[in-house]
This record gives sequence, C-alpha cells and structure tokens, in this order.
Amino acid sequence: MKETMKISVLGCGWLGFPLAQNLLEEGHTVKGSTTSKEKLSILKQAGIDSYQIELPPGKSQQDHKPFWDCDLLFLNIPPGRGRENADEEYNQILDYVLAKAKEHNISWILFASSTSVYSEKGGLTYEVDAVPGTAARPSGETMLNAEQRIQKSGCDWTILRFGGLYGYGRHPVKYLSGRNGLNGASKPVNLVHQVDCVRAVSAVIRQKKRNTIYNVVSDGHPPRKEFYQSAAEHFDLPQPNFNDDTEKNWRVVSNQKLKDELQFTFSYPNPMDHTP
Ligand SMILES: NC(=O)c1ccc[n+]([C@@H]2O[C@H](COP(=O)([O-])OP(=O)(O)OC[C@H]3O[C@@H](n4cnc5c(N)ncnc54)[C@H](OP(=O)(O)O)[C@@H]3O)[C@@H](O)[C@H]2O)c1
Repeated sequence: MKETMKISVLGCGWLGFPLAQNLLEEGHTVKGSTTSKEKLSILKQAGIDSYQIELPPGKSQQDHKPFWDCDLLFLNIPPGRGRENADEEYNQILDYVLAKAKEHNISWILFASSTSVYSEKGGLTYEVDAVPGTAARPSGETMLNAEQRIQKSGCDWTILRFGGLYGYGRHPVKYLSGRNGLNGASKPVNLVHQVDCVRAVSAVIRQKKRNTIYNVVSDGHPPRKEFYQSAAEHFDLPQPNFNDDTEKNWRVVSNQKLKDELQFTFSYPNPMDHTP
C-alpha cells in the first residue's frame, strides 16, 4: 500500500504551489501557506488546506496550530535578497520554524536550499563542497547557515540545493534582456526546470531519502552568452550583450548523486531546449 503523509508546504509560491498540487495528486494530505490574503482562496480551490502565515510573526499573528501538525514540513521561503537585515531576519524565521517543529514533533524537514551556497570558482562542484565563507552571494551564506541549523535541529532533514529555477513564465533571460556589458560570457549556467524540481521533491519523499543533501540541477550547462542569446531569440526579446570574456573561474554543479541514488532522470535535461 502506498504510504501517505500529512505534508505542510511553508511558502506556496512559484515552486511551492505546483509542488503542493503534485503532493495532493499523490494522495498526501497537504496544507500550504502564503503571506497573501488574496491567494488563500486560490490555494483552497486547488484542494490545499491554506493558511496565511508571514514570518517572523508579528505580535498579532495567530498560532495556526493545524498547519504545524504534519509529518513533513517543506520549508520553501527564500531569504529576502538584498535587504540589509536579510540574514538576521532569516535566522528569526528559522528560530520560529524550528521551535514549531519541536513543539509539534515534526519528524522530517525538507529544505529548499540553493546552489548559491557554493563558491563560483569551484569547477565541478559536489554536495560536500559547500564551505562557509565562500558562497556565491550573501544569500548563499544565509542558506548554508540555515542548512546547518536544520541539520542540528533534532528532526530528520533533507536538503535540496536547487539551481536557478525556470519554467512556466519564469526565465532568467527576462532579467538580462537588452542589457549591455555583461560579464561571464563563457561561464556555464546551472539551472533546473520547475517540473524537475517538483519531481525531485516527490522522489525524495517516495524513496524516504532522509538526512542527506542533493543538488538539483539539470544536465546541460551551456555557456551564459550562448544560452541567454538563444533564449532572447526564442522569446523574441532584445538581446543581452556580453563583454569579451576574460573569466577563468567557473562552476558546474554536479547532479550525479541525485541521479545515482534516486535513479532520477530529468524531464528537461537541457535548458537550451527552451521548453515551457
Ligand atoms: N529563484 C531561484 O532561482 C531559486 C534558486 C535556488 C533555490 N531557490 C529556493 O527555492 C525556494 C522556492 O523559491 P520560489 O522562487 O518558488 O520562491 P517564491 O515564488 O518567492 O515563493 C516563496 C514563498 O514563500 C512565501 N514567503 C516569502 N517570504 C515569506 C515570509 N517572510 N514569511 C512567510 N512566507 C514567506 C511566499 O508567500 P506568497 O505566496 O505570499 O508570495 C511564497 O509562497 C526558496 O526557498 C528559494 O530560496 C530559488
């Protein structure tokens, strides 16, 4: 018999919402959160038991006890990028989440982390290669710190380090289109399609892969210039223009562990295919 669980998705955003829908289809009982009152009814219509939760909580926020009553918590809130106190705020979010996990005896936390925990200069990069103080961006350090706190929380945990997320209306070319003087023309991209993110989470849950870390990044790593210019052409957007390349450092995040241990194959292995 298929084992079903009570799963709470903290953050039903671009990734969390389709994931919650997929988990429902797989027979799990699914609760989901959003910060937005307007989105509550959309989640509800999709069959998700929905809660309005904004963290760290203000004084007037309710406790939302039923949300925290779950077997598995999918923690899916990004650190507030670029905000001055983003690191401190994310720590406060974690304080709250980990206290709730303890209070409600949540046995498993699955954390949506990021490949930004790794250095940009590491060449071929594996799960063991995340070293504090070397992350690509400040938000990467925040994520790495969060990973470490979750691993020490006393709950079972799984960390998924996603590459840049794309698919269904989100494509990184939209941020670079029409820009000039871009650097890193020959640097390989590390991306993953939404469909494969959802499939990877589902595979981890189905195969009960606890207390381990997986990179979730598609197979193809085209150079930035080739990738973005081809995407601009595909989406009929103004071309981004790159400087002549002098960059020697690069990073390709390996997905070998995910493929080996979960027998995972990617539905969208190559970001150059420009699928939906
Ligand atoms: N974007 C990328 O390329 C990328 C790459 C690697 C990893 N990731 C990670 O993947 C995960 C999902 O990313 P995403 O792009 O799907 O994010 P998203 O679309 O911005 O969704 C984030 C979700 O978290 C909720 N949320 C945001 N701030 C919150 C707060 N302070 N308190 C409570 N809830 C909050 C949002 O609420 P609303 O529903 O109200 O918006 C939304 O439901 C994140 O953990 C992110 O760090 C992202």
